[in-house]
Amino acid sequence: MPGNATLSVDGQTYELPTLVGSEGEKAIDISKLRDRSGYITYDPGLGNTGMCKSSITYIDGDKGILRYRGIPIEQFANHPNFIEVAWLLINGRLPQPEELAGFSAKLTANAPLHEAMRHHFEGFPVNAPPMAVVSAMISTLACFHHQFLTIEDDAHFEELAARLISKVRTIAAYAYKRSQGRPFIYPDPRLRYCANFLHMMFSMPYDQYLVDPDIEDALNLIFILHADHEQNCSTTTVRVVGSSKANLFASCAAGVSALWGPLHGGANVEVMEMLDKIHKGGVTPEAYLAQAKDKSNPARLMGFGHRVYKNYDPRAKLLQQACERVFAKLKRKDPLLDIARKLEELALKDPYFVDRKLYPNVDFYSGLIFRAIGIPTEMFTVMFVIGRLPGWIAQWKEQHDMESGKIVRPRQVYTGKTINDFVPMEQRIKA
Ligand code: SDX
Repeated sequence: MPGNATLSVDGQTYELPTLVGSEGEKAIDISKLRDRSGYITYDPGLGNTGMCKSSITYIDGDKGILRYRGIPIEQFANHPNFIEVAWLLINGRLPQPEELAGFSAKLTANAPLHEAMRHHFEGFPVNAPPMAVVSAMISTLACFHHQFLTIEDDAHFEELAARLISKVRTIAAYAYKRSQGRPFIYPDPRLRYCANFLHMMFSMPYDQYLVDPDIEDALNLIFILHADHEQNCSTTTVRVVGSSKANLFASCAAGVSALWGPLHGGANVEVMEMLDKIHKGGVTPEAYLAQAKDKSNPARLMGFGHRVYKNYDPRAKLLQQACERVFAKLKRKDPLLDIARKLEELALKDPYFVDRKLYPNVDFYSGLIFRAIGIPTEMFTVMFVIGRLPGWIAQWKEQHDMESGKIVRPRQVYTGKTINDFVPMEQRIKA
């Protein structure tokens, strides 16, 4: 145990307690700092601030480690089962056979949307951004499932989690169908989670989409790799909204909005647009990297870099391998994959990227797999939502169960006008 931290300021010395996490993460507890010293801390972006204790996901950014409830993500790759991992994240252990079967049955039973909700989609323009539709429809679930606006017990929460995880897939598929002007396809209770999603996305009333087991496996793995990532921007958003005791639907709808940003989940769309721009001949990979390094140019090497990983994102490695498997299975050739490989090869030996420890992240290869499966670019971040939802739910529950759960309300350093007076309009009119 490292003992207290000592802070000396304004001629005073303060002893601040410290704490150490189960993987050696060290923290200084400043929860009493303002009361005792009158000082707050200042940490824009909160890159040096722990907002909670959590036992769900562990990341070691320097070593490129990612574990869900202690299990390295690489161990899920051989037999990817997204719903099993969702249960693990939410409940803190791997399920027994009957627990997984019971949860899967709840997902199957809750796949359809209320018929009145289905009609809501007709109100959206066909070119509505799918992330706006998904966020709105997750929030709308609160209108049709009032009984989950407050949580009674763990069994009640598991029912809610199953409904959300199941229905987000239907909402995503309907948002896609709406954008294509094609008929909605009801979920098929005989299909597993990912197969049912692909069925709702690509089947037509007269033509059942046949799910390739390797593609189903790839989708399970992609969702698993997106399932949680400790206190990232969207998960922090879910916790902040949940800290006001807002319901889970409202909290996850807010998480969708945070994930939409191009610096976060929206990066998978930006990666494809970057690769497409290079492919269309606008710029060579070498020239694009030069733009990404040029501070006067807003271009960035999308899909590269990470606030926490200063090593190769372990998810990117697994996604690259999944990408090669899917392309081989589908006998696909994609010039964008060749460009991605070239960009990675150049960047990994370029001092600009090496010195800043910028490596491929989760978004660099995921879009290429979605594109090979037939999912359009505008749906890529929605795919991230489906994957990340169990992590949001687990993190929301962990905070909800904390007795001392305080509303998140940070301070600020005020830099505006000091005391000022109201000036009536007649005196304001410039002479
Ligand atoms: C996700 O938090 C999570 O866990 C997120 C996520 C999850 O699972 O929830 O992992 C998902 O959001 C992955 C990240 C997806 N975003 C992108 O791929 C967008 C491109 N990457 C960057 O914009 C950037 O790397 C961030 C936003 C991801 C991280 O930014 P930081 O940690 O705030 O780093 P920074 O902006 O302070 O950059 C440090 C330096 C700067 O140069 P200098 O000022 O030191 O000269 O690195 C440069 C930056 O200009 N830099 C890049 C770059 N990323 C950082 N330069 C070119 N291309 C890039 N991609």
